[in-house]
Amino acid sequence: MSEKSPILIDGKLIAATIKEEIKKEVADILDHGQRPPHLVAVLVGDDGASLSYVKSKEKQSQEVGFTSSVYRFPENISEKELLETIDFLNKDNEVDGYIVQMPLPKHIDSRKVTEHIDPRKDVDGFHPVNAGRMMLSLPCYLPATPYGIITLIERAGIETSGKHCVVLGRSDIVGTPMALLMSRKGKDCTVTLCHSKTQNLKEICASADILIAAIGKPAFVTEDMVKPGAVVIDVGIHRIKDDSEKGYYVTGDVDYKAVAPKCSSITPVPGGVGPMTIVSLLTNTLKAYKKEVYKD
Ligand code: GUN
Repeated sequence: MSEKSPILIDGKLIAATIKEEIKKEVADILDHGQRPPHLVAVLVGDDGASLSYVKSKEKQSQEVGFTSSVYRFPENISEKELLETIDFLNKDNEVDGYIVQMPLPKHIDSRKVTEHIDPRKDVDGFHPVNAGRMMLSLPCYLPATPYGIITLIERAGIETSGKHCVVLGRSDIVGTPMALLMSRKGKDCTVTLCHSKTQNLKEICASADILIAAIGKPAFVTEDMVKPGAVVIDVGIHRIKDDSEKGYYVTGDVDYKAVAPKCSSITPVPGGVGPMTIVSLLTNTLKAYKKEVYKD
């Protein structure tokens, strides 16, 4: 069991490798005289974080050779107008997949918007049809973060069969699907899903062979919550104000400095799970283009 130097699971490198694979496939598509895959992002309002996520999605789409469009609307767009845009995107044969960046302004019903998206173009995997198909192990678009983590685990060669996987956090788009996917045939973990009402949280975490922290609290996972030799996947990303030149430092849901020496392997923040999420969106878009999930 490792004591001092855990293996760093390099999400940045794995994501770059997958992007190269996608890029090659797109180049091949173009060589055959076909149009490239087309991903659209719908952005409402000018929230800084949403804007930077969408810019990043646009940039990375272009880097692999996709066509990338952003439909931008002011904060006061009506729900009706937004739903009409979605109708338009659903019908546009030149759009393979699209996402509606969340959160939406309060006067818009996000659930209604998500349910309006054609599941065949729902590359975020947020539509109930895709969530239901995931639950039934049918072909579907997996949500980007859990999909990215599964890919990271596979590409890093982490043994999962029969292991105890503890997932911290039960959100609809990370914790809950993550727990489901880790219990599936092929991953074969015994899974415990922990949340804010879980009793004996420390003890449960300390019994994990694989600990996935998606609780949204900076440095929540401390050294005493980790079993020696565990694999730790940190989904959190938080900016904490400090006196440095930048004015902040970045941490995950795991107290990295204290926890890392105890692990067999761990994802850093930044550079672990983060880079995998957009890559998963690109993978879903390529699948949409190739009609791999839905055949028609
Ligand atoms: N807001 C934060 N993360 C996401 C995401 O993965 N997809 C969408 N549509 N909105 C988000």
